[in-house]
Amino acid sequence: MSGALLEITGLSAYYGSAHVLQGVDFSMGVEPVSLICRNGMGKSTLCNSIMGLVGHTTGSVRFDGHELRGAPAYRVADAGIGYVPQGRRLFRSLSTDEHLRMLRKPPAGSRWTIDSVYELFPRLTERKRISATQLSGGEQQMLAIGRALLSNPRLLIMDEPSEGLAPTIVETMVATCKLLVQEGMAVLLIEQNLGVATAVAERQLVMVAGRIHTETTAGALLGDPDLQRRFLGVEPLAESGGAASGGSTDGGSTGAPAGPAGAPASAE
Ligand SMILES: Nc1ncnc2c1ncn2[C@@H]1O[C@H](COP(=O)(O)OP(=O)(O)O)[C@@H](O)[C@H]1O
Ligand SMILES: [Mg+2]
Repeated sequence: MSGALLEITGLSAYYGSAHVLQGVDFSMGVEPVSLICRNGMGKSTLCNSIMGLVGHTTGSVRFDGHELRGAPAYRVADAGIGYVPQGRRLFRSLSTDEHLRMLRKPPAGSRWTIDSVYELFPRLTERKRISATQLSGGEQQMLAIGRALLSNPRLLIMDEPSEGLAPTIVETMVATCKLLVQEGMAVLLIEQNLGVATAVAERQLVMVAGRIHTETTAGALLGDPDLQRRFLGVEPLAESGGAASGGSTDGGSTGAPAGPAGAPASAE
């Protein structure tokens, strides 16, 4: 045991006969890590496998020294992993406030309480009473992050949080991630948006066909158009001057403050 916070070894995941994750290996401490890959390569399957939401997995997911692979999602959450799923996964029948109040009340003295979530995202305070599905994309993402924070996790896993958000909102989201990192939260950011991935973390894991193909750094990835083109399927930031326009909208494609790149995001 390496003493890593999260240690994933030989993690495979299957949907019927489809072998989607094919032996994922990586570990992380409290430093932020971005995992970037093309669409359909298994990003969400990896998140769901860690969170106990995929029925058939093999290998090992150790968190803080405890084996979690195969454990139900509530145990994974209890162990200290918060999850912001792709597409936010909010309930139409619940208001913003009800999303936060339906969770177990954090113990006294916790960093994250309903009040501190509203302090982090004052915009949500103004939108307390409306159905969460009537929030804008950015507000929905704030709520999904706030909901995950209320379990006071040690590790926050975020699956494509920039998806479908306008560039200015993506900037706010990146700033929130950086704030959480500064506070000591371990963040595993799953992205296909290179600008976002490299803005949040120095460590970059490139996943190809259900495996970690390469580990590199933000600077090296941004300076390697060949790697970007071959494995991420993006128009390289290095060749586009690092400030390409993503043309994102609140219902559209990817965008990033540090120069978006990437294939259009799929809507969930
Ligand atoms: N619930 C599911 N049942 C069957 N196949 C699935 C399911 N979820 C995802 N897949 C398939 O697994 C592969 C990886 O999907 P996913 O993990 O969602 O990729 P990504 O998040 O990188 O876009 C895709 O081929 C997708 O069609
Ligand atoms: Mg996905």
